This record gives sequence, C-alpha cells and structure tokens, in this order.
Amino acid sequence: MVQCTLIWAGIGVVMAVSGALLGWVVFPRAVHEKIIENTELRQGTDQYKRWEALPQPLDFKVYIFNVTNPYEVMQGRRPKVVEVGPYIYFQYRQKDNIRFSRDRSKVSYSQQQMYVFDPESSYPLTENDELTVLNMHMNSILQIIDNQAKETITNFRSDVNNTLEKIPVVRLIKRIIERTTPIQSILQIAEDETYDSLRLINVELNRIFGRPDTMFLRTTPKQFLFDGVPFCVNVIGIAKAICKEIEKRNTKTIRTMPDGSLRFSFFSHVSHGKEVQPLAGKGGQLRFFLVFLPCGLQKNMTDDGMFTINTGIKDPSRTQMIELWNGRTTLDVWNNRSSGLPSSCNRILGTDGSGYPPFRTGVERMTIFSTDICRTVDIKLTGSSSYEGIPALHYEIDGNFLHDIGPEYGNECYCVNKIPKSIVKSNGCLYRGALDLSNCFGEYKLLARQ
Ligand SMILES: *[C@@H]1O[C@H](CO)[C@@H](O)[C@H](O)[C@H]1NC(C)=O
Ligand SMILES: *[C@@H]1O[C@H](CO)[C@@H](O)[C@H](O)[C@H]1NC(C)=O
Ligand SMILES: *[C@@H]1O[C@H](CO)[C@@H](O)[C@H](O)[C@H]1NC(C)=O
Ligand SMILES: *[C@@H]1O[C@H](CO)[C@@H](O)[C@H](O)[C@H]1NC(C)=O
Repeated sequence: MVQCTLIWAGIGVVMAVSGALLGWVVFPRAVHEKIIENTELRQGTDQYKRWEALPQPLDFKVYIFNVTNPYEVMQGRRPKVVEVGPYIYFQYRQKDNIRFSRDRSKVSYSQQQMYVFDPESSYPLTENDELTVLNMHMNSILQIIDNQAKETITNFRSDVNNTLEKIPVVRLIKRIIERTTPIQSILQIAEDETYDSLRLINVELNRIFGRPDTMFLRTTPKQFLFDGVPFCVNVIGIAKAICKEIEKRNTKTIRTMPDGSLRFSFFSHVSHGKEVQPLAGKGGQLRFFLVFLPCGLQKNMTDDGMFTINTGIKDPSRTQMIELWNGRTTLDVWNNRSSGLPSSCNRILGTDGSGYPPFRTGVERMTIFSTDICRTVDIKLTGSSSYEGIPALHYEIDGNFLHDIGPEYGNECYCVNKIPKSIVKSNGCLYRGALDLSNCFGEYKLLARQ
C-alpha cells in the first residue's frame, strides 16, 4: 500500500511535471515549430506554394504628379503640380526556374510579375485619365545629345544646314536652369557649351517628338506606365540618327516597336528590368517623382534577375534572406572604399521585400534589396498595427534611403555624382531627397522622393 502510494505519488509528480512541460515548454515549442514549419521553404508545403505564386495579388499603387499649368511654365512661371492617385494595380508574382541546393538550405529562382489594373479600388480614377507630366524621355534625350549624339549631329551638319527655329523647349530649359533647385539644375546638361548642337537639335526635336509645344506631355496612366508614349515615328535624316543613337543605348524604359518607332513607358513590356517593391507588401505604395528616365520599374511579365535565398531550414532567422543575386554578393554600382574593397552600399543583403524570417518581435530594423534602384533600403520598426484583426508590426523606410546620405551618415558611397553639373553640397553629395542612379541604369538618372 505504501509502495502503491509512492508509485502513485511518483506518477503524480511525473504528471505534474509533464503538465508543466506541456504548459510551458511543449506547447510553445510546438507553436514555435509550427511557425518555423510554416515559414521555412520546403518543397510540397503550403508555405512553398504561397511563395512560388502569391495566392492573392499585392496592391501596387502609383501616384503621378499632374502639371496643371504647362503653358504658364512656358512663360517662365513655376510649375504647379497636383498629386493624382492612387492608380491601383494588382501585382501577381510567379517564381520560375526554382532550384534547391543539395542540402536544401538555399533556393534559386527568377520571378515574373504581372500587373492588372484594378478599376474598382482606383475609382473614380481610370487608366485613361488625361494627365500632363514632364516629358521625361525628351529631357533624357537632350542629355544623350549632350554626351553621345553630339558627334552624330556634327557629322550631319554639313549635309543639313538648318537655321535656328525658335522652339520653346530650349528657351524653357534655359529658364528652368535659372532656377536653382537641385532637381531642376539637372537640366543644365543641355545648356551653354553645347548650345550649338542644341540649336540644331531644336529642329530635330520637332521631328522626333511630334512638335512638342511645351516640355510636358499629355498622356494617360495606361500609356505612360505601360503601353508607352510613341516617339521617333517615321523619322529621317538627323532625327533618324538621333533615334538610332537612343535605341542603341538600350534603356530600360524605352523599347523599339516593329515599325522602328520608339516608345517610352515606366513599366515597359519588353527588355530587362524590374520594379521598386511596394515596400510595405500588401497596401504598399509608391509615391515618387522621377526626373529623367525613371528607374525602370518592374515590367509586366519580365524577371529581375536570379536570386538565391536561404530556405530557413538550417537557420529560421535567415529565412528568405538573399544569399546571392545573379551569383554575386556585391554590386558594382556605388563607390568603392578607398582600399578598393566593396563598400557597404554595394553589399547585397536582406530579403526582396515579399517575405521575412519569423519571430520579428524586437527586430528594430530590416533590410530590403531592390534591384531597380540597385541598392538595399532599411526599414525600421515604427510601432504595432493590425491587419484584418491579426496583430502586425509596422515598418517604415528609414531616412538613409534618400535623406540621410553623406559622410556624416557613413554612407557617402551613395554619392556617385555622375550627373554633369548637378548641384551638389560641398561634400560632393546631392541634396536631401535625391539619389543619382546613373551607375545603376547606365543613363543619367535621378531618383527624388517627396
Ligand atoms: C491633370 O491636369 C489637367 C490640366 O493640366 C487636367 O485637365 C486634367 O483633368 C488633370 N487630370 C487629372 C486626372 O486630374
Ligand atoms: C500585363 O500582361 C498581361 C498578359 O499579357 C495582361 O493581361 C495585362 O493586362 C498586362 N498589364 C498591363 C497593366 O498592361
Ligand atoms: C548655313 O546657313 C547659314 C544661314 O542660312 C549660312 O550663312 C551658312 O553659310 C550655311 N552653312 C553652310 C555650311 O552651308
Ligand atoms: C570597384 O572595384 C572593382 C574591383 O575591385 C572595380 O571593378 C569596380 O569598377 C569599382 N567600382 C567603382 C564604382 O569604382
């Protein structure tokens, strides 16, 4: 009997202990493991399916600055812009060429995205709204002329002797140059010492761009973002040479049509390129103002390189972290360190923004790598939030994206300063809110954010 009591007592202790274990160790551990199971990338799991093709599209919101006084600007007034948006697109993502490493700890893939306009959530805005925007490709082409096509023009000079036509574009450029905000000063590229070639270009501009009456463009979101604004249609002579020159540069935002004409659009259908991730995932939005060829945002149905990411099988805290992009751990876009070693700006880190490792509590900062702007962007925790009743953490882009750039922030590697005659601070960096993407695109480009 005594023995029995002891045994029962023993069992009681075991029960009590296992109760405690179940309560305090086993259950949370099971939860923990379930979380890992549902976040790591293992073939055949639900998470794998979600990762391979997003089950629901992401919202992709675009805001565009509409210039409401284009003719006044032609008379030297300041442009008045009204932000119009959001134009909302469904963004579908599908991964291809998926290959796991032998130990399953890494997976490589490319990713296609497709955009479909969402008229319901964009209402009352439509894809065919009339907008007046900066004629970006024309401005960009003025730069090309300044740099590369100058020679082409000189060669034609002897054949075609045009007198200066007083096309408003040149006068307007000069006026804008007189204003000294950094963004506008970029237009200086087309100024003074090349004035001679510009005079000739004036005549040709009419042929290339179909008689622009201002330096703005009337277009629709559908045309400007996807279908493309046509130019270089049926050109001959110098204009044709310039168009060839433009075509040869293989710019992400310009594509050649079967009839030989060119088209400019933000999200061009063909050619290589990709998108600025809607940084906040669902409900993410893009609110930007791009001067000159905007960074080739993700095209409809094209991929943005080969990613190799961590599956999280060995280390859950590295789930979906990028290991390699196009086989490399560093970029060759931003300034190197003086030792020649890759700088922090050139390091490829973080995730692509569509997935993150589990157990985020207390994680103050995360990094996203965006192939469009050839760099990583930090996001920092700003508080808690919820999505359809599910608690969530809210992260926002950190100041070091476009604002806090320079030696004082330890990231002067972003001060590439390639745009001729742009107004820079004494330390050689652009002003707050601007980033020179020339090395990223092989064209003079400036990303500015409002
Ligand atoms: C954009 O501005 C123009 C005036 O320049 C106006 O006619 C047009 O309706 C505006 N578009 C939108 C979508 O607000
Ligand atoms: C993107 O391509 C798909 C398939 O070709 C098409 O259905 C869709 O309308 C396109 N999206 C845009 C915004 O042009
Ligand atoms: C070009 O035209 C101007 C004025 O019409 C004339 O003075 C000049 O001699 C011409 N140049 C050539 C190379 O024909
Ligand atoms: C950085 O250094 C590498 C070699 O270490 C070189 O190939 C590359 O051109 C340099 N990049 C820049 C932007 O100077």
